[in-house]
Amino acid sequence: MEKFAVITGAGSGLGRELALQLSKQYHTLLLGRNQDKLSLVKDEIVRSNGRASFYPVDLRSKEQIELVIKELQQFPIDLVIHNAGVGHFGPFLSSSLEQLHDMFSTNVFGTIQLSKGLIPILLEQKHPTMINIISTAGLRGKKHEALYAASKFAFRGFAESLQKEFEDQVHIVNTYMGGMDTPFWDNSTHITDRSRLRSPKEVAEIILSQYMNRQEIIIESKK
Ligand SMILES: NC(=O)c1ccc[n+]([C@@H]2O[C@H](COP(=O)([O-])OP(=O)(O)OC[C@H]3O[C@@H](n4cnc5c(N)ncnc54)[C@H](OP(=O)(O)O)[C@@H]3O)[C@@H](O)[C@H]2O)c1
Repeated sequence: MEKFAVITGAGSGLGRELALQLSKQYHTLLLGRNQDKLSLVKDEIVRSNGRASFYPVDLRSKEQIELVIKELQQFPIDLVIHNAGVGHFGPFLSSSLEQLHDMFSTNVFGTIQLSKGLIPILLEQKHPTMINIISTAGLRGKKHEALYAASKFAFRGFAESLQKEFEDQVHIVNTYMGGMDTPFWDNSTHITDRSRLRSPKEVAEIILSQYMNRQEIIIESKK
């Protein structure tokens, strides 16, 4: 029987890599805001004889999340990867309320609302799994990352609590990675030397080779 995996933020970076690598075993359901990016990833998967479909959704919109959950209910999804996320960095006193809202509405509220819609589908499957892409910023605070770290600590608190609540029902894996060389940094001056960042391909390979036997995966930054 065909297996289905949902990956949020699948149009670029780590989400794209996870989708490409998983598409050998799964029909991947690609979520993200930008339809063109999702469509390119789908084409790449189809060219390699994999299966993929895409569903544009802005995780900051309650209405759009409700609609996408309705569409996804037709699939027996047994893997959900919460990967979509945004980051705004810089001195705390220069940060804006808009940045705070942007990060919490995507990294926290949208992710939580989507989980509420997808966990009932996971619970109907034999061996369901949820992988949460957090960040080492969800393990410890960092200079000029106050609001981003606050959002990732919130995501971690949610994700660790779900591990306890759905113990024996859903295998939940929380992942914490350091810097990756992805479009995440394209409009930021926070990282100056991108050569020290891991590739999203390498991080996706580590996660996918370990997640079945782990509840937590920590991939520290390169020294
Ligand atoms: N890059 C790093 O150094 C690093 C380190 C640790 C953790 N992380 C985390 O890893 C995850 C993936 O990031 P990445 O590095 O691969 O960066 P990325 O290429 O920018 O990917 C983030 C994805 O999230 C999607 N997204 C953002 N806002 C969204 C929204 N409101 N609704 C739906 N989708 C949304 C984006 O797609 P659209 O543009 O189509 O919306 C994008 O494809 C994020 O959660 C990030 O916080 C990144």
